[in-house]
Amino acid sequence: MTIRLKPINNQLIVITGASSGIGLATTRLLAARGASLVLVSRNRAELERLALECQRQGARAIAAPADVGSFEQLEAVARVAVQTFGRIDTWINNAGVAIFGTCEQVPLADHRRLFDTNYWGVVHGSLIAARYLRQRGGKIINTGSVLSERAMMLQGPYSASKHAVKGFTDALRMELEAAEAPISVTLIKPSAIDTPYMEHARNFLPSEGTRNPPPSYDPRLVAKAIAYACEHERREIVVGSGGWIVSALGALAPRTTDYLMELVGRITQETSDPGRSARRDNLYQAREDGAERSSLPGGSRKTSVFLEAQLHPVVSAVALVGVAAALVSFGASGSLRRPRTDQRKPSALV
Ligand SMILES: NC(=O)c1ccc[n+]([C@@H]2O[C@H](COP(=O)([O-])OP(=O)(O)OC[C@H]3O[C@@H](n4cnc5c(N)ncnc54)[C@H](OP(=O)(O)O)[C@@H]3O)[C@@H](O)[C@H]2O)c1
Repeated sequence: MTIRLKPINNQLIVITGASSGIGLATTRLLAARGASLVLVSRNRAELERLALECQRQGARAIAAPADVGSFEQLEAVARVAVQTFGRIDTWINNAGVAIFGTCEQVPLADHRRLFDTNYWGVVHGSLIAARYLRQRGGKIINTGSVLSERAMMLQGPYSASKHAVKGFTDALRMELEAAEAPISVTLIKPSAIDTPYMEHARNFLPSEGTRNPPPSYDPRLVAKAIAYACEHERREIVVGSGGWIVSALGALAPRTTDYLMELVGRITQETSDPGRSARRDNLYQAREDGAERSSLPGGSRKTSVFLEAQLHPVVSAVALVGVAAALVSFGASGSLRRPRTDQRKPSALV
C-alpha cells in the first residue's frame, strides 16, 4: 500500500531524547524546516529552553518531560500532543543511554535500567504511535545503531539493546505492512557520532573517560537522515560508512572481526579525558544537557558520501554508471593504443 507522508512543514512530530546530541540537532533541523514539535526527555528545564528557541525560529514547539521507560508517561505525552496540535504525524524514538564495562562488571540492575530506556522506550513509543497513526497514517522512526548488527566489546548491554531495537522494529514494520496500516517504519543506524553520549555514559572501565572508536561523525548528519525519513519510506538508513564497514566485515568474516575488535576494543574506547563531569552518568536521571557535540577532542566528519548515496539513490546510480562508463572507455582507448606499441616491438610478439 502507498503511504503518503506529509512535507515536514505540515507535520506534528514527537521526538524523544530531544535535549542533547542527535535529538537536539534533529529538533533544530525540523524546527528550521517548519515542523510543529513535541519535545521529550527527562530534563524539563532544557526542553523548555529548547521549545522557546524553536518558537523564536517561528516553529510551534512544546516541552513534554517524560521518562521513556514509563508507558504511562509516554501515553500522557501523546495525549498532550493531540490536545495541543490535534494530531500526530511522526513519532521519533531516539532517547538512549550507554554503559561502558564488561558484561560481568555491569550490575544487572543497571543492565535492566539501560533496557528500560533503549529497548522498552522504543517499544512504548512505537506502540503508542502505531495506535494514533493507524487511522490517518504517518511515520515511526527508531534510532538503532550499527551496533544493532555487530556487538562491541565493553558495550555489551548497549549492543544487546540495539540488536533488540532492530528485531522489534523489523517485526513491527512487517506486521503493519501485512495489516495494510498506512504507517511507514524506518530504523536509523548511526555509526560513532560525536555527541555527549560518551560523557553521559555510566563508566565501569578503569579509565577516567570513555570515547567512541573512530571515525566519529557529526550529529547533524543523523539529523539529516531522520528528517529525510520523516518524508520518505525507507526501511533503514545507515549514517557514516565507518561503523557499517565493521558490521559488513562481521557478517563476512565473524571470527576474524571478533579477533580484530578484541585487539582494538579497549584502546579505542578508553581515554584519560573524563570530559565534562556535569554530564557524567545519566542512566537514572538527567545530567547536563543542551549540547549537540561532545567536549572531547578529536572532531568529527561533517560529510558522508555513503549517507548521500542512500538519500539520493538515483543520482548515485547515474554517477556510478557514469564513472563505470568513463573507466570502460578509458580502458578501451588504452587497448586501442596497444597495437601501435606492439608494432614498434615486433620481436616481443614472438
Ligand atoms: N552517539 C553515538 O555514537 C550513537 C551511535 C549510534 C546510535 N546512537 C543512539 O542515538 C540516540 C541519541 O543518542 P545521543 O548520541 O544523541 O546521546 P545523548 O547526547 O546522550 O542524548 C541522549 C538523549 O536521550 C535522553 N534520555 C536518556 N534517558 C532517557 C529516559 N529514560 N527518558 C527520556 N529521555 C531520556 C537524554 O535526555 P535526559 O537525560 O535529559 O532525559 C538525551 O536527550 C540514542 O538512542 C543512542 O543510542 C548514538
